[in-house]
Amino acid sequence: MSRSAAGKAYLICGGASLIGSHLADQLLAAGAGEVRLLDNYSLGTPEIIAHLDGDTRVKRIRGDILRLNELIEAAQGVDGIFALAGFLTLPMSQNPPLGVAVNTEGMVNILEAARLAKVRHVVFSSSVAAYGNTAADTLAEDSPTTMASVSPVAAVYGTTKLLGEQLGRLYAQKYGVGFSGMRFSSVYGERQHARAVNANFIADVHDQIRRGERPVIVGDGREVHDYIYVTDVAAGCIAAMLNGEGGQVFNLCTGVDTTHADLVRTILEVCGSEMQPEYREDTRAVRSAGGNHLGFSPTKAEREIGWKPAVSLRDGVARMVAWREKQRG
Ligand SMILES: NC(=O)c1ccc[n+]([C@@H]2O[C@H](COP(=O)([O-])OP(=O)(O)OC[C@H]3O[C@@H](n4cnc5c(N)ncnc54)[C@H](O)[C@@H]3O)[C@@H](O)[C@H]2O)c1
Repeated sequence: MSRSAAGKAYLICGGASLIGSHLADQLLAAGAGEVRLLDNYSLGTPEIIAHLDGDTRVKRIRGDILRLNELIEAAQGVDGIFALAGFLTLPMSQNPPLGVAVNTEGMVNILEAARLAKVRHVVFSSSVAAYGNTAADTLAEDSPTTMASVSPVAAVYGTTKLLGEQLGRLYAQKYGVGFSGMRFSSVYGERQHARAVNANFIADVHDQIRRGERPVIVGDGREVHDYIYVTDVAAGCIAAMLNGEGGQVFNLCTGVDTTHADLVRTILEVCGSEMQPEYREDTRAVRSAGGNHLGFSPTKAEREIGWKPAVSLRDGVARMVAWREKQRG
């Protein structure tokens, strides 16, 4: 059975996030009756949701997911909660105690509020970082997790996401709170912030091209990531909210491994530049897990919640570049 968002009320925790802003757009376009955006603005800013001013269905709530009472109040009468508030690897490296608290204690608070307010379903922003550096041809949701040689901060981040998933599965089993843990790959797009290492690379390359400099690739250019456009991620979260049952985990990825060399070539093409990249030795302090093969599979999400990505890398890069150019004025 496919449910509809029309007329329903939803709470987005981390409502001033990159993904939350697009989620709000799509929920409103789907006819949602109310969209509550809860954020403490510790990382996100009100500007990212400023375009929603004037829509009477949008309620902004300044609140903290570390305060259960605020969540319980915000969750009253909603059909579903999108649990997006969290610290990515970069903010986690800047403030590990707060990052661990928000990603874990904050998540258990959201589930507790969902239980107490009798919310039907919670969709959680997990990450492919939960796999660590598991090596396999194809990484599906039942593949094991290997943190052994992942950098400490990436392992801490990935472990907080694993804990969030398991808490969600526990609340589904024990209390019947529906739960979908969505493992996003590298998200990028319009309204991009500077907190995500892999999206920062796209922005850096674009900035270099704009300055007339050759784009720099560290290493041999064969490092791969699975870049997924932000509107596809928002659509996947909504598909899970409407069609998810019980307690499940899904990859939200394209299934395409894109090398840094191919990505830079795409950005150069989109910018109409004929420059060649410059290769430099790799001295990065914070980098996400990855190697020359990832192989994340999106097939479970397509099979069980009817979602698949719609935006190609070329179109996504063109949209992000156009948005960045517009920002510059
Ligand atoms: N962006 C990616 O590439 C990516 C990839 C995988 C997973 N994720 C996950 O998806 C989620 C959203 O990602 P994003 O890039 O849109 O994030 P973001 O950094 O734009 O937003 C996170 C939001 O959470 C808010 N927040 C932090 N602590 C809070 C607290 N205690 N109470 C209330 N709000 C709080 C911040 O102010 C911010 O607006 C995160 O949980 C992230 O870990 C993102």
